[in-house]
Amino acid sequence: MKDVTYNGLTFEPYITEDKIAARVAELGKQIADDCAGKCPLFVCVLTGAFPFASDLFRAVDGDAEIVFIRLKSYEGTSSTGAVKEVLGLHEDITGRTVIVVEDIIDTGHTMHNLVAHLGSLGPADIKIATLLFKPHALKRPVKPDYVGFEIPNKFIIGYGLDIDGKARNLRDIYVLKDEQ
Ligand code: HPA
Ligand code: MG
Repeated sequence: MKDVTYNGLTFEPYITEDKIAARVAELGKQIADDCAGKCPLFVCVLTGAFPFASDLFRAVDGDAEIVFIRLKSYEGTSSTGAVKEVLGLHEDITGRTVIVVEDIIDTGHTMHNLVAHLGSLGPADIKIATLLFKPHALKRPVKPDYVGFEIPNKFIIGYGLDIDGKARNLRDIYVLKDEQ
């Protein structure tokens, strides 16, 4: 497999499409087991999580539903991104088992705030599924229930993850090369 270049930066292959597919299938089985008889509501955080959410959702053998939300930063938000508005959640999640689906948990600020918001809406349970988890970048106490891959604190693109809006359509995951 070849390196790819975006914005003058070179990225090397990191996790192949096949490896992603195998891991997503495992997570789908775990979710199906954990949520047997519950009809979980997948909440996909746009835009980055859409390929992962699509594959994960279809890897679950059993009743499940999916909705898509977008998080909008308020004007004047600090660099922690502490305050975000949740757009697109029109479903009643009272008493539901909710599975938040993210592409990556980095500092954890976004997920922490989102889970707090969803928790205020009265779900039975909130679980977190993330394709990638950077435990060394974490600044909030966020514990994902379903993790595709734990990765070091490096910049990743592909399979939904972007650099300036591009590279989301790469089928494999790539990592920024060192020493550039
Ligand atoms: N890649 C793309 N987007 C991101 C990353 C990353 O490594 N971390 C947080 N957002
Ligand atoms: Mg991004």
